[in-house]
Amino acid sequence: MAWFNLSALGITLSALLTRQRIAFEASVRLPTPAVIPPPNHAPEPPARGPADDAGSLANAIAAHRWYHTIDLGNGVRTPGYFDHDPYLPLYRLPESLAGKRVLDVATFDGYWAFQFERRGAAEVVALDLPNAAGLDLSAPRRAAMSAEELARPFGGGFALAAEALKSKVRRVEASVYDLSPERHGLFDLVHIGDVLLHLRDPVRALACVRSVTRETAIISDCFWPDLDRWPERRGMVYEGGAGENVWWRLGAETIRAMIRDAGFGRVEELARFRYGGTKDGPNLHHVVFVARP
Ligand SMILES: C[S@@+](CC[C@H](N)C(=O)[O-])C[C@H]1O[C@@H](n2cnc3c(N)ncnc32)[C@H](O)[C@@H]1O
Repeated sequence: MAWFNLSALGITLSALLTRQRIAFEASVRLPTPAVIPPPNHAPEPPARGPADDAGSLANAIAAHRWYHTIDLGNGVRTPGYFDHDPYLPLYRLPESLAGKRVLDVATFDGYWAFQFERRGAAEVVALDLPNAAGLDLSAPRRAAMSAEELARPFGGGFALAAEALKSKVRRVEASVYDLSPERHGLFDLVHIGDVLLHLRDPVRALACVRSVTRETAIISDCFWPDLDRWPERRGMVYEGGAGENVWWRLGAETIRAMIRDAGFGRVEELARFRYGGTKDGPNLHHVVFVARP
C-alpha cells in the first residue's frame, strides 16, 4: 500500500533513498558548532554613585568584559566580543526614528538600543533578563550551576555604557516570553538579534515579539546554510542547550518560516553575511529579516 501511495505521488523508492542519503550525509557533514559566546554576562561592577568622577567611570569601562563594541564618544570604544558597526548599513535602519517607540529585545550591553536612541527615537526600551536564572538552560546545565551563578545580575555593561552616553534608554528586566501589549504597550520598531538559537521555544518568542509590534520588526540570527538545502523542508538541528547554550542550529529558511508561523504577515530578507567574534573572525552566517504584522 505504501508503495502504491508513493508512486501515486510520483516518488520512486530510489528517489526516496537518495533523499535519505543526502539528509544523512548533510547531517554528518554539518560543521562543528561555531563558537557562539554564551550570554555569560560579566559580573556587575561595583555600585557607583553620582558623585563618582569621570576617571572612575573610565576605569570601570576599562575593567568590564564587554560583549558589544560600543562607541562611547571621545575616542572610547568598548573592546567588545562582537562589533556590529561594519554590518550596520546592511540592516537599513531609518536615518531618523523621530517620534518612534522602539524595543530592543535581548539587549545585552545595549549596542542596538543605543543605535536607536542615536537615531532620535522618542522612547527606547531595552529588554533583557535580570540574571542567568531566566535563561533557557537545559536541566543538567541548570543543575550544574550554583545559586550564586544563577542569581548574578546581568546588565553591568549596559549600565556603564548608558552612563557614559548619558542615555535615556530604559532597561526593562523581563523575558522575551513575558512580552505582551498589556504589559509593555506597542512598539513602532522591535529588534531581536542573535537569541533565537539560545531559546528552547523560538516560535513562542517570535509570537510574543509579534504581539507588541505595531509597524516593523527586525529579526536577525545565526544560520547554518547546509540546513537550507531541502526546498520542501525546514532544517534545524537540536543542540539541547549544549556548548554555548545553543538549543538549535537553524536554516535561514527555517527562521523565515518561524517568523511567519509566529503571526507576521509580511517577511522580507534584508541581508545575509558572514561575521563573528572580533577574535574568531567571520565564522558565523547571519541573516536579517524585516517583518510586518
Ligand atoms: C547572544 S546575545 C545577543 C545580544 C544582542 N541582541 C545582539 O544582537 O548582539 C543573547 C542575549 O539574549 C539574552 N536572553 C537570553 N534569553 C532571553 C530571554 N528569554 N529573554 C530575553 N533575553 C534573553 C541574553 O541575556 C543575552 O543578553
